[in-house]
Amino acid sequence: MEKLVITGPTQLKGEVHISGAKNAAVAILPATLLIDGICTIENIPNISDVKLSCEILEALGAKITWNTPNEITVDTRNITTTKAPLNLTSKFRASYYIIGAMLGRMGEIEVGMPGGCKLGARPIDQHIKGFEILGADVTVEKGKIYAKGKKLKGSNIYMDIVSVGATINVMLASVLAEGTTIIDNAAKEPHIVDVANFLNTMGADIRGAGTDVIKINGVKKLNGNATYSVVPDQIEAGTFMLAAVASKGDLLIKNCITKHLESITAKILEIGGNVEDYGDSIRVWCKKRPNKASIKTLPYPGFPTDLQPQMGVVLSMADGTSIINESIWESRFQYTEELNKMGAKITAQGKTAFFEGVPKLYGAPVYSSDLRAGAALIIAGIAANGVTEVYNLEHIDRGYENIEEKFRKIGAKIERIKE
Ligand code: UD1
Repeated sequence: MEKLVITGPTQLKGEVHISGAKNAAVAILPATLLIDGICTIENIPNISDVKLSCEILEALGAKITWNTPNEITVDTRNITTTKAPLNLTSKFRASYYIIGAMLGRMGEIEVGMPGGCKLGARPIDQHIKGFEILGADVTVEKGKIYAKGKKLKGSNIYMDIVSVGATINVMLASVLAEGTTIIDNAAKEPHIVDVANFLNTMGADIRGAGTDVIKINGVKKLNGNATYSVVPDQIEAGTFMLAAVASKGDLLIKNCITKHLESITAKILEIGGNVEDYGDSIRVWCKKRPNKASIKTLPYPGFPTDLQPQMGVVLSMADGTSIINESIWESRFQYTEELNKMGAKITAQGKTAFFEGVPKLYGAPVYSSDLRAGAALIIAGIAANGVTEVYNLEHIDRGYENIEEKFRKIGAKIERIKE
């Protein structure tokens, strides 16, 4: 078992380089299945969810070459099976993209129910509804999903709820369908735009990604033979922005798209932090104890649920009592119990948590329940007095590249230790 041992407090200072977006990469990789050819993807984050995505592609017959730690070439000319290995697909949530991509490419797929962080119920009814409207038959049985639809036909699909995964998955299934698909009430996250840009670079005809109506004109074939660079990770950038505030530090966060960070910037300014926006980099610093705030997580462009735990760390040390309302994932407050072990005073009731700010946290052994909870506990350890040990690193490694190295470079005293 591995743990991170963090000795705090440290005021983080310096520059940090943001990697490619996890949530874009884990959708773009399955999207390569729609190409009967070769493509190269740059700025791929070297994280375990990406490695799993690659293993699934390889199991389906694709050839993957790592040109550098952050660039791969994918050859999908020879797809040999329509059964995705259950042991791999059950390990992470984004394996559901195999369904949309394989329906488009092969008209058929058998896959395990997706796994991933335990954030509460994670239904995929909107994905299935979309596939069925396009003409696929979908059966869910004994933990497996069977989807079949040799001739998908473009159609109008209204999403009952705003879902990132369903929007992307239906987009994947409709790229090679006959005719036009319109996805209404689509999610607008930056990685949805990035997947659409990738597919358009390869020859698809997708318009309106980033708005709530996406129009996909089906094309006969995607060309491949192109190179695409993954968008910078909005959530990783936000994690470091909040780490700067929590540690009363001063960070220049490079290789990000600051437009994607507006909701976080606004909250940091509201609680008394400072932000300088340079377009592709952002400086965040904070000299005083943050003010209290009220936050509600929302789909983009609202405050992202994936930054809620990191913001929770900041508010646990704010002056006054803050409230967070989590509107996306019902079990996303598990990290608050761990923060309470570090001296925080947080009461979580259902979708709402009350943060009675304390002047200081202190180090303790803590367990990450999911990916973003893990990032939050690292930030807490950096800001806290004394030694914090963070366990369950497999969650953190799913989505953050070289996390301890990046934090160490900006001053954190953090070591990964094998027990
Ligand atoms: C994606 C992100 C995840 C992020 C989440 C919300 C990836 C790989 N993961 O997850 O990091 O926390 O967006 O920004 O990109 N829902 C349904 N039926 C469905 C689909 C979703 O009821 O068919 C509900 C979910 O339970 C949740 C809400 O819709 O309450 C949003 O989920 P969704 O946007 O689909 O999240 P994911 O795509 O799974």
